[in-house]
Formats: sequence, structure tokens, C-alpha cells
Amino acid sequence: MRWALITGGTDGIGRAVAGQLAAAGNGVLIVGTNNAKGIRAEREIRRDSGNSHVYLLPADLTLLSEAHRLADEVESRCDGPHYLVHSAGMVRGHRVLTAEGVESNFAVNYLSRFALTNRLLPLLQAASRPGRSARIVLVGGAVRKGPIHYHDINLTKGFTTVRAIRQFQQANNVFTVELARRLHRAATPVTITCLRPGMVATNVRRNFPRWMRWAVTLAGPLVALPPKRTAASIVTLLCDPAFEGLSGAHFSHVRRFKPARVPAAHRPEEGAKLWALSEHLIAHTQQRTAPRRDVTFRPNESS
Ligand SMILES: NC(=O)c1ccc[n+]([C@@H]2O[C@H](COP(=O)([O-])OP(=O)(O)OC[C@H]3O[C@@H](n4cnc5c(N)ncnc54)[C@H](OP(=O)(O)O)[C@@H]3O)[C@@H](O)[C@H]2O)c1
Repeated sequence: MRWALITGGTDGIGRAVAGQLAAAGNGVLIVGTNNAKGIRAEREIRRDSGNSHVYLLPADLTLLSEAHRLADEVESRCDGPHYLVHSAGMVRGHRVLTAEGVESNFAVNYLSRFALTNRLLPLLQAASRPGRSARIVLVGGAVRKGPIHYHDINLTKGFTTVRAIRQFQQANNVFTVELARRLHRAATPVTITCLRPGMVATNVRRNFPRWMRWAVTLAGPLVALPPKRTAASIVTLLCDPAFEGLSGAHFSHVRRFKPARVPAAHRPEEGAKLWALSEHLIAHTQQRTAPRRDVTFRPNESS
């Protein structure tokens, strides 16, 4: 049996991916913070797919410690994973620091993805077979060129929701290309791609600031896709033999699924800088003693 780990698999896009992979006979591990919702999702996906190999692994991925604990649990629970989908995400309209000192939007929508992916890479590599590489898909967003504020990653000066979104989405764009570059250099048969959905009819808006909720409420009925259509594109990226070996590529699914160009994600110096920042933040949070103080980073400093 092939196994999939789907963060955010208890709701929205991730849940639809989990349902489709379970229906195709894969073992599925779903992750979310809300236990009651997760248990419901686990039960319903089992019922609807007729597949009993669906398990909830609760974790709060705003915390790196939780990403590491989750990786350990995945290792003990399954042979794999063969598929890793990062769909856990939220948009918080005000600045909140995690207990590890990282701005919470950046923590859950990018940094824990970096940490979890790197912890699971040996397992993904071991699960790969000739012609059937393990695959990673990041669920990204519409931003093509958001700045990453290396000198103020927690946005202590002038936090806005839009700045936070642009920063974490660009981090996902750059990470996709940089990880692919490193996997290729190490001849590791694991691939990564990033899907940029348009508007999808999910609960993601619940923590949006009021103006964004209004905008989404007005535009949603006209343009929002049902999650199952976005999920079908993710399943294509994970399972379709036509995408075997393709890595570091971006796709979008606004009206239809197609390749996307994100030139700003391809600068090697940006990839190296983001990698150094991410390792620094992980090292810093592991050494923390005083909670809820902003972490800092000087771009030329590597951990
Ligand atoms: N919907 C859109 O229009 C849209 C557009 C562009 C990009 N996206 C991106 O697509 C991804 C999925 O969003 P969605 O629309 O499917 O949202 P959603 O319906 O709100 O689902 C989000 C999922 O992430 C989980 N999650 C949230 N915070 C978490 C945390 N701290 N730790 C672990 N799991 C957490 C949620 O579980 P709990 O509720 O139990 O925590 C839920 O399973 C996100 O990255 C989002 O930014 C969405």
C-alpha cells in the first residue's frame, strides 16, 4: 500500500485530496488542530471511500516542535510516505507570535512545511522506486513576487495581512525551486511541485480581516471553485505518470490546471538565503528558553 501524509487533510482542499487518494486505495494520514473536526473527517473519508486506512494525526503546525513530533509519528505509523501534501494553512489578520517566537502566518504556512519536509526526506527517499518517485506538493497562492523580509521576518514594523501573505507565499515559491535544486544535486529521487489555487470555496477565510472576508464573500459565488476540482489537480501532480521526475515546477488552477511561470523564485541566491534563514529559525527555536520574543536574523548569518 502507498501512503500519503496530508497536512490540512481535515478540511477544505486537503480534505478533498485525502478523499480522492483514499478512494484510489492509498493509506492516508490527515493532520489538523481541531480534534473533533479531524475525527469527523477521518470517519467520513473512511465511509465514503470504503477504505479503512485513514488516520487522523492531530498536530498544531504553527510550532516546529509539533512538526518534528509529527514526523516521528509518521515514521512509526506507516511505510513511507510516498506522497506529502502541504495544505495546512490559515491567514490571521493580525500579528501573533507563536510560543517559539515566530510570526504565526509564516510559521504555519511556510516554516513548518520546510521543517516537516526535511525531516521526512529520508522516508520519502526510501519509499521511492525506479519510475515511481515519492512526490511532494505544496499548496501555494497567487503571489508571484512577494518580498521576504529577511531583516524583519516577524513583520514587527508595519504588519499587514497582505505583507504576511506575500511573504509566506513567496517563501513557498522559492522553497519549491531550491529544494528541487538540492534534491537534483544529491541525485535524490524525490520531487516537489507547487500548485497555486485560485479562489476555492473553503473555510480558509475564517480568520481573515473583515475587508478580506467581504471581498471573498462578494467574489466567491462568481469565481470560487469547489475543493474537489483543486484537489484533482493536486492528485494529478502526485500520481500521474506524466509528471514523474518533474521537480521545481509551479502550476496554477484558477479556471483550469496549467503550468505557471514564477521567475522570481528561480534566483539561486534567494534560495540559499531562504534556506539559511529557515535553518537559523529552526536552530533558534530549539534553543529557546524565553517564550514569545521575536526571533531575529541577519541575512549573511547562517546557522
Ligand atoms: N481557499 C482558497 O481560496 C485558497 C486560495 C489560495 C491558497 N489557498 C491555500 O490552500 C491551503 C488550504 O486552505 P483551504 O482553503 O483548504 O483552508 P481550510 O478549509 O481552512 O483548511 C485548512 C486546513 O489546515 C488545517 N490547519 C490550519 N491551521 C493549522 C495548524 N496550525 N496546524 C495544523 N493544521 C492546520 C485545518 O485544520 P484545523 O481547522 O483543524 O486546524 C484544515 O484542515 C492553505 O495553505 C491556503 O493558504 C487557499
